[in-house]
Amino acid sequence: MNFEGRVAIITGAGSETGIGREIARQLSKRGAKVVLADINESGLESGVREIERNGGTASSITVDVTSRDNVQQSIKEVTERFGRIDILVNNAGVSRPTGVTEIPEDEWDLVFNVNMKGVFFLTQAVLPYMKENNYGRIVSMSSVSGKRGGGIFGGSHYSAAKAGVTGFSKAVAREVAKYEITCNTVAPGMIGGTDITSGLLTEEKKAEIQNGIPLGRVGKVEDVAYSIAFLVSEGAGYITGEELDINGGSHID
Ligand SMILES: NC(=O)c1ccc[n+]([C@@H]2O[C@H](COP(=O)([O-])OP(=O)(O)OC[C@H]3O[C@@H](n4cnc5c(N)ncnc54)[C@H](O)[C@@H]3O)[C@@H](O)[C@H]2O)c1
Repeated sequence: MNFEGRVAIITGAGSETGIGREIARQLSKRGAKVVLADINESGLESGVREIERNGGTASSITVDVTSRDNVQQSIKEVTERFGRIDILVNNAGVSRPTGVTEIPEDEWDLVFNVNMKGVFFLTQAVLPYMKENNYGRIVSMSSVSGKRGGGIFGGSHYSAAKAGVTGFSKAVAREVAKYEITCNTVAPGMIGGTDITSGLLTEEKKAEIQNGIPLGRVGKVEDVAYSIAFLVSEGAGYITGEELDINGGSHID
């Protein structure tokens, strides 16, 4: 996979241990200019430094994916800086392990706004630039929770939002295919070591989860990043509207 000359935006790449940062590393290693986007400004600064230290070209935008104005303005800045946008990875997300009867309305809205509305805003903002070039690769982050329900660290609002991401991406895939733009989702199972589990992954819980995974381990951020690198590569141009499971066999359908 070679991304020389390609410009990639990755949302939620501020967290050093997160999936988004690893996606940025993998794409940069293969030649892409990466734009790290996150609400966490200090995380972005260290992310850009890390990529540059390793010989890559990186830039950042501080953006709240739930704000349409903020997203539109940020995407405009990226095109002014780099002249094009080839790849969008909608990775920013939040999760709350709240039972359905306890979910307050503001928490429902937060989980939906970040996980789903953010995907809509970013996709809407980059498409005009991708259409102009008749080329684009969009991958958005769903979850096994959106397919089977009952997320380990996410409640019903998280499952609903992630299922929504998949439906949205399938519809967009049909709409933009005539511009050589593909739109896919990935559905990771439990990925260890990121902030989203908020320290809830105790050794005991980890062992319990591992017992339900045929491949015998929880996922790594690299497992997700490699799969996404493939889906946003030029060679994956005949794959669109797809949802790729990355779960060690814990959910096979
Ligand atoms: N870790 C897992 O087990 C797992 C499994 C399935 C899916 N996912 C999904 O993968 C994605 C990445 O998760 P992660 O595990 O790396 O978590 P993480 O918490 O490490 O990363 C999430 C990132 O999103 C950013 N973010 C949150 N709200 C934002 C906003 N309003 N605007 C911009 N950025 C915002 C955070 O600052 C953070 O950097 C999420 O969409 C998550 O739902 C994770």
